[in-house]
Amino acid sequence: MFGSIIRNPPALISACIFDLDGVIVDTARYHYLAWGRLAKELNIPFNEQDNERLKGVSRMKSLDILLSLDDRQASSGEKERLATLKNQWFVEYIGKMDRSEIFPGVDRLLMELKSNGIRVALASSSKNAPQVGGILGIAGAFEVTIDGGMVKHAKPDPEIFLLAAERLHVPPEDCVVVEDAAAGVDAAHAAGMKCIGVGSAQLLSAAEMVVAATGDISLPSLSRL
Ligand code: G6P
Ligand code: MG
Repeated sequence: MFGSIIRNPPALISACIFDLDGVIVDTARYHYLAWGRLAKELNIPFNEQDNERLKGVSRMKSLDILLSLDDRQASSGEKERLATLKNQWFVEYIGKMDRSEIFPGVDRLLMELKSNGIRVALASSSKNAPQVGGILGIAGAFEVTIDGGMVKHAKPDPEIFLLAAERLHVPPEDCVVVEDAAAGVDAAHAAGMKCIGVGSAQLLSAAEMVVAATGDISLPSLSRL
């Protein structure tokens, strides 16, 4: 008689918490464009690699990182002015967006999760997240939305993901986060959650799994984490 093969039961996941910029919609490139425009104005050398450090972190922290690339100092009034300028450009860019900029497969994934009883939330460090949600008509797709204006500490702090889990009434350890930023992967882990990285396997190596695009995520892959 052959012994039966004993497999570990798949891990139970109750909720999936999505980042917005660079995960649901292609707005990460607008943040990059706006920061690049500001860097050019300030004569600060800035490339895509530098931009990776700005992903997921708050507007003011991003500005501090940008200024530090060229050892610049600025008063708090000047920083306010620069951050406002960057935001004006970002808002101008997203005002021209339409639903075609939602990544392929996102709608399918959200439906697949919901029809299998997995709760879905959005957790973005961006204070513009409600506006992006409104422009794209996706706000209703998430049971809970947390944006940068609702937390004291942005990613890599776990606050945003813990708040999303609390609002969903799901324990953090039963949540999986989907993130395109290294700061977001760190925030998920600090919250006691597993994380799927979207983008470069090298840059997001701390994540439990990395996919090239959000649309590559499937239900079976979630339970293998
Ligand atoms: C997101 C983006 C960051 C951005 C941050 C703040 O996390 O990944 O690149 O800097 O939100 O966005 P905000 O729209 O509030 O300036
Ligand atoms: Mg992001």
